[in-house]
Amino acid sequence: MNITSARFIKGIIGTDDMLYDGKFQVAFMGRSNVGKSSLINSLTGKDGLARSSSSPGKTIRMDFFLINDTFYFVDFPGYGYAKRSREARDTLEKMMLWYLLYSEVKNRTVVLIIDAKVGVTAYDQEMTKRLWEEHIDHIIVANKVDNLGRGQRDKQLTLIRNTYEPTDVVAYSSKEEFGRNELMKKILSRLQLTALQPQQK
Ligand code: GTP
Ligand code: MG
Repeated sequence: MNITSARFIKGIIGTDDMLYDGKFQVAFMGRSNVGKSSLINSLTGKDGLARSSSSPGKTIRMDFFLINDTFYFVDFPGYGYAKRSREARDTLEKMMLWYLLYSEVKNRTVVLIIDAKVGVTAYDQEMTKRLWEEHIDHIIVANKVDNLGRGQRDKQLTLIRNTYEPTDVVAYSSKEEFGRNELMKKILSRLQLTALQPQQK
């Protein structure tokens, strides 16, 4: 599938009618600074669509982007950013948990992004546990593989893949545009599946 159009719709901090308009939502989540916003830009081929920054904590809302006029990419704030105040961290984490556990959005998948070099942190484990427990469909991405040399890359990816087995892990680099086809294929398979099902609220 080619992405032919991608535009920012709005950023929300809680419930909104848009969440329930029946369009499929691809939610990009992960620790702060793992490259969620850059990944959205890389998939859409639109630099600067989602705001990315070298200083963590850039995304502070659930930013909705309409793709091909049919489904959404949702850019989430990162979790686990130690330099934010406790209060700010709690607010953002509560927003993410609300979306996952209580919003009753069913027509979605989560793309959980981890940093390939850092590996799976305790925060990541906590997130994956939640996704499993709540039966939330998800795709795991090991991002920024360009930061690893050839030998190191294979070693780190094996470690990460062992942690998530039997779930696949997509190796990705926004910088090198590596892994784009594989990730798009996984997203597309979710879209096709939901197209076959009655629309859920
Ligand atoms: P928050 O919104 O703050 O949670 O961050 P984020 O996860 O959206 O990360 P963002 O896309 O803002 O990128 C953070 C930093 O990582 C920026 O300096 C990016 O240039 C860099 N970055 C993103 N993707 C890659 C990648 O694939 N490789 C490398 N080497 N750097 C990357
Ligand atoms: Mg961001």
